[in-house]
Amino acid sequence: MDIRQRILELKAEKDALILAHYYQTMDIQNVADIVGDSFELAKRASAAENSVIVLCGVRFMAESAKILNPGKKVLLPAFDAGCPMADMVTPGDVRDLRTKYPNAAVMCYVNSSAAVKAESDICCTSSSAVKIAKKLEARRIIFIPDKNLGSYVAEKTPEKEFILFNGYCHVHHKVKAEEVLAAKAAKPGAPVLTHPECTPEVRALSDFIGSTAEILNFAQSTDAKELLICTERGVVDRLAEIAPDKRAFLVSPRLICPNMKKTHMEDVLHSLETGEFEISLPERELTGARASLDKMVALGS
Ligand code: 13P
Ligand code: SF4
Repeated sequence: MDIRQRILELKAEKDALILAHYYQTMDIQNVADIVGDSFELAKRASAAENSVIVLCGVRFMAESAKILNPGKKVLLPAFDAGCPMADMVTPGDVRDLRTKYPNAAVMCYVNSSAAVKAESDICCTSSSAVKIAKKLEARRIIFIPDKNLGSYVAEKTPEKEFILFNGYCHVHHKVKAEEVLAAKAAKPGAPVLTHPECTPEVRALSDFIGSTAEILNFAQSTDAKELLICTERGVVDRLAEIAPDKRAFLVSPRLICPNMKKTHMEDVLHSLETGEFEISLPERELTGARASLDKMVALGS
């Protein structure tokens, strides 16, 4: 029996829900029950009624699923799939910032550890960040850890004052304005669709800025047949499958997240067969981070 068939059988047998991020390879996306951006995955995990959730993505996504639905068994098939940006800020950094800016609210990108979420007032994803910042009562907002997403939210929310932290995604941050200009010259007229984790210089050259799901929606609804994609390669692969009439080009060959590509079909099968690798978090982090994530789901929807 082939591996895909075995995964589908075990999924039913174990009452498992497979959630996959758009940056996963297409074989994984095609075996998942739900494919989404990080906001959608958090919402779906929180509402899941299955006994087991298999999160094909990186650790912070699986941790968020566990925090939002702690009664479920949450499995991360690739145990070492992390997000380097999530490790750039510590709970101690958050406490120091609070001492320095006592009247500011701490808004924490979901790409962070559970311990950092527990020290924050509210979480956000790239698709919900602007909406949440606008709804927050506080005028001053400490945004952690992504300085690029933080500067994007600040541009869109001029009524607030932002204190940015010096974190970034090594995949999106490395895209250069020159690469975008070269891609535009090669495909004149093709719109550039960019993730807000890119630098302000790259965003300024773009026609649309949004989360992975928002980029996919825009790509499907625009009349343009050629598209320049400035986020991880999984989005280009997904577009080839769901919108075969479009031609999507990656702005830089370096737009590949090595951690998102750590999950293979064998790992998903292993998770379903053995129940590895289960996410478990200290009670203090579970409850502390839950408040921040619950607020995100409520305000960001
Ligand atoms: P999305 O919220 O757009 O899915 O982004 C997650 C992420 O890790 C981007 O690098
Ligand atoms: Fe983290 Fe960047 Fe990979 Fe997203 S693309 S998971 S932010 S390293």
